[in-house]
Amino acid sequence: MTAYELDGVKVKGYIATSLLDSFEWLHGYIYAFGLHYVDFNDPNRPRTPKFSAHYYYQVMKNNGFPETAEFGKLWGRFAEGFMWSTATASYQIEGAWRADGKGISIWDKFTHTPGKVLNNDNGDIACDSYNKLEVDIGLLKQLKVTHYRMSISWPRVLPDGTINNINEAGVDYYHRVIDALLAANIQPQVTLYHWDLPQAIEDQGGWLSDIVVDRFRDYADFLFSRFGQKVKFWITINEPYIIALLGYGYGSFAPGISHDPGSLHYVAGHNVIKAHAEAWHVYNDKYRAEQKGRISITLNSDWAEPRNPYKQEDIDAAKRYMDFFLGWFANPIFKGDYNEPMKRIIRERSLAAGLEKSRLPEFTPAEIERIKGTHDFFGLNHYTSVLAFSVDFGDTQNYDADRGVAVISDRTWLESGSNWLRIAPLGFRKLLKYIKEEYGDPPILVTENGVSENGPVDLNDEHRSFFYENYINEALKANMTDGANVIGYTAWSLMDNLEWASGYGERFGLFYVNHTNADRPRTPKASVPFYTTIVRCNGFPDPADGPHDCTNSLSSTSAPISEENPVNFLGMKLSIDEAVTGLNTTFALLIVSVVAVAGVTSLLIVSRKRSKKRKNDP
Ligand code: BGC
Repeated sequence: MTAYELDGVKVKGYIATSLLDSFEWLHGYIYAFGLHYVDFNDPNRPRTPKFSAHYYYQVMKNNGFPETAEFGKLWGRFAEGFMWSTATASYQIEGAWRADGKGISIWDKFTHTPGKVLNNDNGDIACDSYNKLEVDIGLLKQLKVTHYRMSISWPRVLPDGTINNINEAGVDYYHRVIDALLAANIQPQVTLYHWDLPQAIEDQGGWLSDIVVDRFRDYADFLFSRFGQKVKFWITINEPYIIALLGYGYGSFAPGISHDPGSLHYVAGHNVIKAHAEAWHVYNDKYRAEQKGRISITLNSDWAEPRNPYKQEDIDAAKRYMDFFLGWFANPIFKGDYNEPMKRIIRERSLAAGLEKSRLPEFTPAEIERIKGTHDFFGLNHYTSVLAFSVDFGDTQNYDADRGVAVISDRTWLESGSNWLRIAPLGFRKLLKYIKEEYGDPPILVTENGVSENGPVDLNDEHRSFFYENYINEALKANMTDGANVIGYTAWSLMDNLEWASGYGERFGLFYVNHTNADRPRTPKASVPFYTTIVRCNGFPDPADGPHDCTNSLSSTSAPISEENPVNFLGMKLSIDEAVTGLNTTFALLIVSVVAVAGVTSLLIVSRKRSKKRKNDP
């Protein structure tokens, strides 16, 4: 298009290769070039149009390219006071699992059960952060973050989970962490619960018993009383979805319960919601006036696109995916009660299976009122997007069958070191907009966002810089263009740490931690100066208004992305520009689909604008 438009080359036509996936010579059927997917395992060789087929159709129909403002980079900065943060969690970094009177958590027990965690890794030492406070504060200073999201290990301060037995050494440790942060002018954002439940509470039923609601309220009360003078940002619970579903449904995370996958995750989720609400009320009633902090919960969610944006069933599947993921917890807290689709589907499927009532517990009207509105902001963890489609799982009574959705990834989304995580920045913008529209335009604090690698250590982590640049830019678009009230951003994670059941193999850190070295040394990856530059610039100032002092660190210290340092894209080595093109092509179709669904047909030919923008990309 550029050659035709800008250089006057007389391009008369264009042939897209290929109509179908087909025999690719020496590569057999492994390389699939088709606009249509062909199932070679099926003797009928059925053809399914890929996103690219729909996209190509739009290009032909418009005799050019659709509006591209969505794909280019948006220059601009976040509002003053935007919170730039990075995060860790106690069990993932602290180690010192038996030190100074700490109690045992469910993750201590789980990791010590052979076969539960990859390579039988555990958090006994982890990053040894319990003994490396000064070092870690140094890393945060290097990043120039204004905030740091950390979590408190419940059994380190209350070894048996109750306030009857306080471990002052543990309390002291967190005072030292918080004091050191404040001395470095970094504001702590403290999560009360990031999955390390005291084993003593699990022994009484854990999240399946409503005893935990009172215990959690007491624990929260205790933390506010001890740390509330210093901490102004509280997050009650990290990711109820994972706690409930992986801990008590699939059993792939601690405490590893999977014997009743039809019900127990709903019971656990129910108690998590109630516990959160109690903690919020304690703060609201007893501490807010004096301590003047803010408190909320962190929910995690993918973004779901319909696999085929032209098929109503897939559109419904994508919505159901969101209702069963984000909506499971966001609805009771932001709107009151579970959402209607979840209530209806689970009730119907339960009764059809001969049960007397729904497997999804009910809140009483009083509980609905007590839970509704227990938020000061919307804490969001987001990593990836999926393409959703409907599947009938028959009579099976479990979460997936209730939801009736299966997912795949778009093949052009960059891979990461985690099989569940594909790089899909545009989904982030859509999710932020969805939260604004669905949940009453709350202030949104992004409490986690990041990407992993595995395999051989390579400190030149271009994929992470690429991820942060593109995801944060989508957040900026959500903020500036869509009006989502994004108040802060948190990179997961400060350093490589214990990635739960995946052990130390999946590395999300900005800093590399050598876990085979007893000292657990930290080394900055190339993404450190990259992220620091975004932090210092408070976004992406337009080079046309420059020069900008804040960009200096990037040019001098970040690893160059060049032919010698290509990005791994679909198993191919590409320059970062080529990888961006791959992503834009993918999302172009998604945008086109939305536009098409909305019945908007006047797409603009703006390739000139687009190519100019791309050249200016740093
Ligand atoms: C969790 C983190 C985890 C990260 C990457 C989030 O679900 O809060 O603890 O390490 O995702 O998997």
